[in-house]
Amino acid sequence: MSFLKTKESGEAQVDFDRLPRHVAIIMDGNGRWAKRRGLPRTAGHAAGAETFRSIATYCQKIGLEYLTVYAFSTENWKRPLEEVSAIVGLLKKYLLESIEKMEKDKIKLHFFGDLEPLPQELKDMCRKTSEISERYEGMQVNVCFNYGGRDEIVRAARHFAADCAAGGRKPKELTEVLFSEYLCSNGVPDPDLVIRPSGEVRISNFLLWQSAYAEFYFTDVLWPDFSKEELHRALAAYQGRSRRFGGV
Ligand code: FPP
Repeated sequence: MSFLKTKESGEAQVDFDRLPRHVAIIMDGNGRWAKRRGLPRTAGHAAGAETFRSIATYCQKIGLEYLTVYAFSTENWKRPLEEVSAIVGLLKKYLLESIEKMEKDKIKLHFFGDLEPLPQELKDMCRKTSEISERYEGMQVNVCFNYGGRDEIVRAARHFAADCAAGGRKPKELTEVLFSEYLCSNGVPDPDLVIRPSGEVRISNFLLWQSAYAEFYFTDVLWPDFSKEELHRALAAYQGRSRRFGGV
């Protein structure tokens, strides 16, 4: 067993042989981080995108299999146009960098959410990066963009109903396993650990179906300040939990 003791907390002991397979993160607190520094909210998102890069790189290094991040929700369109454009711009920047570094990083990139409303160029880039990275064996990163848990479930139900109407499926065939195949997360194990920074203690329409038995970790740290030490605290907290999945 390999343990790590972080200096910062003096307590966060992580057993790297017992990592969760799938960690999901609600990247919250960018706006408040910027406000505290007298900066525009968009600067907070830019800092948040940097944190995402460094945490994803670290997760890949320690051998995590799946990392899912909430980058833009179906409700985030209500934000000022300038802020929405900035977040879309950060996704584009990340995709451009990913295409360049893919051969080296070997990260598999997937997108959860309805990409339809995005500009055609961006949709093409998402498709291209997913397709290229499909052959890689590294960690899978799922970027949730224009994602909402309820929207995902409704779209899956619509898709299943359409398959029934076309004669390919029968309503009585539907099971939890079959329904899961209609979700964005098809083929991805449910998240073991969901992390929400920034002090908010709610799920905000994130992975509603998939997080049925996830463990949650909340911290007051704002996302741009989220560090690998904070990740260690989350992992150590997870490893201290007793997961019973409804059993005893
Ligand atoms: C929530 O913080 C954060 C968002 C709605 C956007 C998250 C986006 C990024 C981190 C960057 C783009 C992503 C990629 C994949 C490069 P908030 O704005 O609600 O913060 P607040 O609660 O403090 O206002």
